[in-house]
Amino acid sequence: MLNAHILGTGSYLPARRLTNDDLSKIVDTSDEWIATRTGIKARHIAAENEQTSDLAVAAAKAALADAAISAKDIDLIIVATSTPDMTFPATACIVQNKLGIAGCPAFDVQAVCAGFMYAMATANAYIRSGMAKRALVIGAETFSRLLDWNDRRTCVLFGDGAGAVILGASEQEGGIINTKLQADGSYSQILQTPGKIAAGSIEGSPYLYMDGQAVYKFAVKALANVAREVIEESNLQPADIDWIIPHQANLRIIESTARHLGVPMDKVIVTLSEQGNTSAASIPLALDEGIRSGRIRHGQTLLLEGIGGGFAWGAITLKY
Ligand code: ACO
Repeated sequence: MLNAHILGTGSYLPARRLTNDDLSKIVDTSDEWIATRTGIKARHIAAENEQTSDLAVAAAKAALADAAISAKDIDLIIVATSTPDMTFPATACIVQNKLGIAGCPAFDVQAVCAGFMYAMATANAYIRSGMAKRALVIGAETFSRLLDWNDRRTCVLFGDGAGAVILGASEQEGGIINTKLQADGSYSQILQTPGKIAAGSIEGSPYLYMDGQAVYKFAVKALANVAREVIEESNLQPADIDWIIPHQANLRIIESTARHLGVPMDKVIVTLSEQGNTSAASIPLALDEGIRSGRIRHGQTLLLEGIGGGFAWGAITLKY
């Protein structure tokens, strides 16, 4: 049987760092309010000439170098993003071209902050079925472009960035153990960017809208359930999890999921404080940070989990 192993990881954050104090000069907010409510202290913002595909390519190159393989070895590219360079072509096709390769399938998945869970689960299915041997899976976002910088309820929460993983097919044990994806479109009203192109202009607001408390309530419940289910279906116990790599939306949501599982916070990778919520990029950014810092080591069991607009959510267990 073929398993999907992580061969390498990489990430990229734009150079510009925007602190809570910087934000307090733009909107009526404070470091104290943001930090205590969310755990966020700073975030990175893409330069005007940086597209989502540029962030994705930088992360992809780092992951390829980490895996010690060439872009030519890649036979599948999936980019999770809700902030594509353009309506079409897919950002994955643009990334493919910028990496100097052609021919392999390349497509985007759009599941907002759960996008990386959906992309990894899809790549895993390709690898298990023998349809791909070396998959490049990227989460990349420029959420700063969806924000109303006059709206203090949302503009303080998000940041830009990209993370990438190379998955390789192997008959050896390990790699992705189990994936579980879920969605419920009846919650689409509480988190959305409704604007759409119609008759040559944008119809509806182009900005991100969020009912923060409704999102919070739904997220803690859904993540606790899906995390518990994916662990059970992997024939594991929560105590077997060496590291949780959660979507980085809010420290209170992250702590709540860990508490539900009985996993202590010193087994959770948290990057939120310096990155904010980078949507589909946050899980691969945190994974790469956990590996680069030497905390995540080969042979350990990881739980990845995330939720976002849709609502869409999911969790993955894997042996690194
Ligand atoms: N600075 C100062 N005051 C603020 C700010 C801010 N940045 N934002 C809101 N406030 C004010 C509000 O105007 C309100 O004031 P009022 O009572 O005078 O009207 C007060 O603070 C309380 O506002 P609430 O929205 O009730 O604040 P709450 O305690 O719910 O915290 C938050 C808001 C942090 C967004 C919280 O609801 C939350 O964590 N929700 C989860 C949402 C989330 O994580 N979203 C990420 C995207 S979705 C995802 O990735 C899963």
